[in-house]
Amino acid sequence: MSKRPSISFAKFAAVENGTAILLLAAEGKAAQEAESVVGQALLSRIIDVSDFKGKLAASLSTLAPSGTELDRLVLVGAGDPAKLKADDWLKLGGSAFSKIGKAKHVSVVLALPGADVSGENAADFALGILLRAYTFDKYKTKKGRNDESRDDKSSAKITLLVADPQAAKKAFANAEAVAEGVILARDLVNEPANILGPVEFAERIEELKKLDVKVEILDPKDMKKLGMGSLLGVAQGSVRPARLAIMEWQGGKGKEAPIAFVGKGVVFDSGGVSIKPAAGMDEMKGDMGGAAAVTGLLHTLASRKAKVNVVGIVGLVENMVDGNAQRPGDIVTSMSGQTIEVLNTDAEGRLVLADALYYCNERFQPKFMVNLATLTGAIMVALGQSHAGLFSNDDTLAAQLFDAGQSTGEKVWRMPLGAEYDKLIDTKNADMKNIGTRFGGAIIAAQFLKRFVGDTAWAHLDIAGTAMGTPASEYNQSWASGFGVRLLDRLVQDNFEG
Ligand code: BES
Ligand code: MN
Ligand code: ZN
Repeated sequence: MSKRPSISFAKFAAVENGTAILLLAAEGKAAQEAESVVGQALLSRIIDVSDFKGKLAASLSTLAPSGTELDRLVLVGAGDPAKLKADDWLKLGGSAFSKIGKAKHVSVVLALPGADVSGENAADFALGILLRAYTFDKYKTKKGRNDESRDDKSSAKITLLVADPQAAKKAFANAEAVAEGVILARDLVNEPANILGPVEFAERIEELKKLDVKVEILDPKDMKKLGMGSLLGVAQGSVRPARLAIMEWQGGKGKEAPIAFVGKGVVFDSGGVSIKPAAGMDEMKGDMGGAAAVTGLLHTLASRKAKVNVVGIVGLVENMVDGNAQRPGDIVTSMSGQTIEVLNTDAEGRLVLADALYYCNERFQPKFMVNLATLTGAIMVALGQSHAGLFSNDDTLAAQLFDAGQSTGEKVWRMPLGAEYDKLIDTKNADMKNIGTRFGGAIIAAQFLKRFVGDTAWAHLDIAGTAMGTPASEYNQSWASGFGVRLLDRLVQDNFEG
């Protein structure tokens, strides 16, 4: 994990030195508390002579006016304060942090006309700072040639001035837990596959024991005994053995059925014998983004002691080309007993999830299962990179996920399921094949998963477009986004606690 700035909260007071950050609504309207730092006259002049008009998350950094002891003044636009959502507060924090330069001592006046900067909003602003500060630079032996770490901002001391510091501090404890989960997920996705194989990933998961998460790791022998021929078929081409990791967080009532999250953890996807083209293949080190999100989520829920029983299961394999690799045409038997004709070894994620989902459902009988997977290129064709694909057999769960996406900005868009698609994976040689037609590829993959979840409420999030390689944003500058942690933490918090 990269070094992070230190954040504290205090009651509004005069800002006398260091860097001052003020929020400005559209047309440069500022709260009383902000105006008192440099005066309304100066703020109006800045608006008049610069392009800065207070648009949401726009920011401007300028030398502090003479007559003050301040070094630097940073203005951050908040647009229409009445319309700010949780996600917007993150953007404000991220945007503010991007402008602090070498500053060591930073004070943020968290006040806006016409907006209630409650504890939650202040905490989200702080979360935006922590997520913006993240860099994956552990392999750079000479820091900061051409990236944000140049200014060594991670050592900044940032004080957020608010009306109610107690409320902000309380909300920030949860936000910090969220930041840690997102950063863990990003670290796992950014890590190259030579360093993070299935065994090493499982070792990272075992560290959650420190947070009182129960962790169990199954090896290939265990999985063979359970009949997980579908998952093991994918793994057999790699010299690195598969793992299935089971995490349990018991924050709810003893007997209450858990909610479950299942992740695709292909630490590298070469395509196998149905090998992928060379260009861009390196990105397949991120094919464990679903497993990373589940791990990050469990980290977050346990560290904020969420009042709910949760299971997280991730299938960890490497999809490689080898003399022992699975061939196109092979027929494998999944733990469910259903047989699968593997017509393309690059459609491996669904083979891993088939056994992970079935195992989860059989063993835990959860209230619902949500799986996350970088499953198809086709979902990127359909939705681009700003929405994950949502497939579900349960309208209530689908609606809850949609709402969580809207408030966190980790947006999901529901896609259809149906018998017309399901029949495309029928085959004469086995119960099903692992590919269908070229059209509707993301839906066909979802139909395949659906055959392994029984009648349990279930949702599948295809995060191929959102987990990695997304455009840099106010609060993510790294290749991996950590997508899913904030979305699912919100889902849990809004619907399943207490
Ligand atoms: N891991 C890939 C999907 C993917 C593609 C994720 C691009 C992230 C970015 C998956 O295992 C895969 O190869 N899917 C194939 C399925 C096809 C063979 C039916 C695909 O999408 O082309
Ligand atoms: Mn693949
Ligand atoms: Zn894959």
